[in-house]
Amino acid sequence: MNLGYDTEDNTIINITDQKDYHHISLYMKLLNMVPGINDVGKNWSALEFGCGRGGGCYVMENYYGISKITGIDLSSANIKFASKFLPKIRFITSDATTFNAEEKFDLILNLESSHAYSSRLEFFKKVKLSMHNTSFFAFGDIIKKENLEEVELMVKDLGFVIIKKETINERVVKSIKKNSIKQYFLPTKFPFLFPRKLHSFFVTVHSRAFYKLTAKDVLYQLYLIQKKI
Ligand SMILES: C[S@@+](CC[C@H](N)C(=O)[O-])C[C@H]1O[C@@H](n2cnc3c(N)ncnc32)[C@H](O)[C@@H]1O
Repeated sequence: MNLGYDTEDNTIINITDQKDYHHISLYMKLLNMVPGINDVGKNWSALEFGCGRGGGCYVMENYYGISKITGIDLSSANIKFASKFLPKIRFITSDATTFNAEEKFDLILNLESSHAYSSRLEFFKKVKLSMHNTSFFAFGDIIKKENLEEVELMVKDLGFVIIKKETINERVVKSIKKNSIKQYFLPTKFPFLFPRKLHSFFVTVHSRAFYKLTAKDVLYQLYLIQKKI
């Protein structure tokens, strides 16, 4: 589950998916950066690193009609859940920094996951190996402000080009605010009754992540990346 994106327009999300509106909107915000995704995209193959319980794969399948999707995640429990939830999609338990794809994909997706990896550099190398020359890499994550330059330099040094980028803190902060009160009413209203760890785990408005995103000490970055050819 990601932190979500508040669009103030939930009409693009199916009625049956409204409870996940913010989380789906964040995926759509990132995927809509990819040119052609709404037409030729239907024939693409896609690989999501850090797919969690399959939310992003669900969005690619049901909102963009992408038919050939693979999702990988480190958590076998997540992969078990996703495989039951989306039987047409191939799910694999694997570490994103060591995963060796046996094929190339037209689209690589990675959202709010790489900050947890042992090495972003090794991850980006695996991404590159999974791409052919015209593939797109849709990448989004929280990045400490002081590390931003280093991450972007790493991407460029590996032979990628950043085609588009956007910082989306305001909308993510709005999403956290709305979800905090809706999903975690008591910890939101009476924060002192709950341990700090709980606030961090659920990312309530009293969590450090919320404060840092609000102050922009941590940036929520979205990127569209391609190989430099
Ligand atoms: C915050 S969740 C985001 C899940 C999903 N991308 C989303 O946006 O809803 C982070 C995910 O990254 C996965 N993850 C963490 N370390 C990983 C690694 N080294 N390789 C693959 N997945 C990893 C976790 O298991 C978790 O499912």
